Amino acid sequence: MYDDEDYDILMKIIIVGDSGVGKTNLVNRFAQQTFLDDSKPTVGVEFFSRNIDIMGKTIKAQVWDTAGQEKFRAITYGYYRGAMGAMICYDITKEQSFLNVEKWIDELKDHGDSNLITMLIGTKSDLESKRVVRIEDGAQKALQHNMAFLETSSLKAANVGKAFSMLLEKIY
Ligand code: GTP
Repeated sequence: MYDDEDYDILMKIIIVGDSGVGKTNLVNRFAQQTFLDDSKPTVGVEFFSRNIDIMGKTIKAQVWDTAGQEKFRAITYGYYRGAMGAMICYDITKEQSFLNVEKWIDELKDHGDSNLITMLIGTKSDLESKRVVRIEDGAQKALQHNMAFLETSSLKAANVGKAFSMLLEKIY
């Protein structure tokens, strides 16, 4: 039987970004292959893990889904410690969530480990007709801050596994 505890390296990843950008669904798609139409705002933090093979090694990705809502901020900071990687998410249909990426970068600098590797994720790429943030602008911001970048859709299962693989490979 496949044993989830049989891994070579443990990597802790945190997922941050404004409330409603789709962090919980990103993690659910990655860890459980599911999508939630009516997912509720995350309270504090939740964590999931999944083993994934990177360059011949089994990596146990321990993914911490943090609440985007301001009222939970003090709780979530405590979970930044020890994280090797972070995904900063914005919603391609919400301009403000993209503008707030700068704020999330600062929060990670203030509360995360100094060698934290970050990746920028533009979520809900299936909602092309409602897009307000151009893919070039996402790529440009990522470049400016030396982050990897992908647009994902948890609904269509597009680029989700690829995004986690990219981040884990960068950490490895
Ligand atoms: P907080 O827990 O409050 O920080 O929110 P969150 O970032 O975890 O957002 P969540 O995953 O709960 O998703 C918010 C809403 O966006 C839900 O109604 C989801 O169904 C929807 N959603 C998430 N991902 C996608 C996606 O890839 N495509 C579409 N169309 N909707 C999505």
